[in-house]
Amino acid sequence: MSTQVGFWNQKYDRSSFIYGRRPNQFLLEVASEAIPAGARVLSLGEGEGRNAVWLARQGYRVTAVDFSKPALEKLERFSAELGVSVDVICSDVVDFDFSDTRWDAVVILHLHLAPEPRRMVHGRVVEALCPGGVVLLEALRPEQMEQPTSGPNSREYLYSVEELRDDFADLEHQTLRSEDRFIKAGEHRGPTSVVSLLARKER
Ligand SMILES: C[S@@+](CC[C@H](N)C(=O)[O-])C[C@H]1O[C@@H](n2cnc3c(N)ncnc32)[C@H](O)[C@@H]1O
Repeated sequence: MSTQVGFWNQKYDRSSFIYGRRPNQFLLEVASEAIPAGARVLSLGEGEGRNAVWLARQGYRVTAVDFSKPALEKLERFSAELGVSVDVICSDVVDFDFSDTRWDAVVILHLHLAPEPRRMVHGRVVEALCPGGVVLLEALRPEQMEQPTSGPNSREYLYSVEELRDDFADLEHQTLRSEDRFIKAGEHRGPTSVVSLLARKER
C-alpha cells in the first residue's frame, strides 16, 4: 500500500465524516446549470461521498473513484441511507481506465496530485469528456500554506490558476478564478485559498 493510501485510510478510520455530508459549495452553485439533467458524472477522489451522494440525489448517474477503501465503504453506507445509487470504483486515479466511457461531467474536488500525475490525469479527463461535457474542479492554491486551515504541506500538491489554464487549454473556461473563502466542510472550517474551474469541451 502506498504511503498516500495509508494516510487517507487512517484519516477515514472514524465514524464521523471528515469533510461533512454537505456538498462542496462550488459544486452546489454551478452543477444544476452546467450539467444537464440525468447526465453521467465521474467524481475523482470522491472520498466519503458528500458530493457523489448529492449529485445522485439530483438525478445524475454518478461514478465515484477513490483509492481509499474505508472512504468508499462510508460512501456506500451513506448512499444506501439516503436511498440513492452511486457506482464506486476503488482505484488510484492514475491507474483508472478512462477509455471505457465518455462522461458528461468530471468533478475533481480537492484531489491534490503531484505535478506529473496531475497533468496526465487532467489530459485524460479532457479526452474522456463528451462533446459539450464539463470539468468542474476546485483545489487549494499555494497561498493555502499561509492559512490556519489544513491542506497539503508541500507546494507541489497545490494548484495555481496558470497550471489549470494550461492543463485545460483545449476547453472553454467558463469560470477560472482564485479566491480566499471561509469554508465550512466537516472538520475543515476557516479561511481557505482555493482555485475554481468550470470548463466545457467544444460540442
Ligand atoms: C481532500 S480529500 C477530498 C475528498 C472529496 N473530494 C471532498 O471534497 O470531500 C482527497 C481525496 O482524494 C483521494 N485521493 C488522493 N489521491 C488519490 C489518487 N491518486 N487516486 C485516488 N484517490 C485519491 C483521497 O483518498 C481523498 O478521499
